[in-house]
Amino acid sequence: MTATIIDGKAAAAALRARVGTLAEAFTADSGRKPGLAVVLVGEDAASSVYVRNKGKATLAANMASFEHRLPADTSQAELIALVDALNRDDKVDGILVQLPLPDQLDAQAVLTRIDPEKDVDGFHPVNAGRLATGLNGFVPCTPLGCLMLLRDQLGELAGLNAVVVGRSNIVGKPMAALLTAADCTVTIAHSRTRNLAAHLAHADIVVAAVGRAKFVKGEWIKPGATVIDVGINRTEDGLVGDVDFEGAASVAAAITPVPGGVGPMTIACLLRNTLVAAHRRTG
Ligand code: GUN
Repeated sequence: MTATIIDGKAAAAALRARVGTLAEAFTADSGRKPGLAVVLVGEDAASSVYVRNKGKATLAANMASFEHRLPADTSQAELIALVDALNRDDKVDGILVQLPLPDQLDAQAVLTRIDPEKDVDGFHPVNAGRLATGLNGFVPCTPLGCLMLLRDQLGELAGLNAVVVGRSNIVGKPMAALLTAADCTVTIAHSRTRNLAAHLAHADIVVAAVGRAKFVKGEWIKPGATVIDVGINRTEDGLVGDVDFEGAASVAAAITPVPGGVGPMTIACLLRNTLVAAHRRTG
């Protein structure tokens, strides 16, 4: 194995520490803590763990955490009423509605109801539009974390060929927008792409976010590439990413592990976005 293993845990810890210090300064200046409200509907076990971890990380970063757990049979009107109340609440700077939502709920309508200035997930169409047009807004946490890891590793990204594998609204599309803004030459590939290997043969940067275990094969990676693996797939072999780690690590210059790569950066970026929201709302 030759690749540098990118330590997402260490990068995330450093970012959380910086945000925690800046949150303390915000409180000293404004007389209140930055606040993050997290809404969980239903009992999904994985979501419940994520929400608990977000709450703990928020408190550890010197911010206020408001957790709202609603029953699985919550109606659209009840959830919208809660979002409206959080939009009006001055103690709340960021609002995150944990996805996926139960089937009876219209997730897009809920996300669109969140005040774009409190949309620390960056999922509101206004923030997606701001990202696409180069305006200041909130960028989704996972692609933002990926970009930070790439900048730590590579410095200047201008002119590099980047292939994003996956086209979701949460990761693939915003990732491609961020890399385009960083002056990369960007290809968006996905599960229906023909001859993915031919695209990856030119990729200095690979971001895999397709949601399929070991979908990207090691022999497709260009020697010396930097590989960011967003996938978290539960298999008989345990948690694995969207990239064949051993194969890719033997040719890449650097690669993120699963777990311990991108995952920890997502929560750190959520805290960062909440601090930014607090400053913007306070003027
Ligand atoms: N579910 C899994 N990841 C996320 C995320 O980043 N934000 C929200 N709101 N829900 C998620």
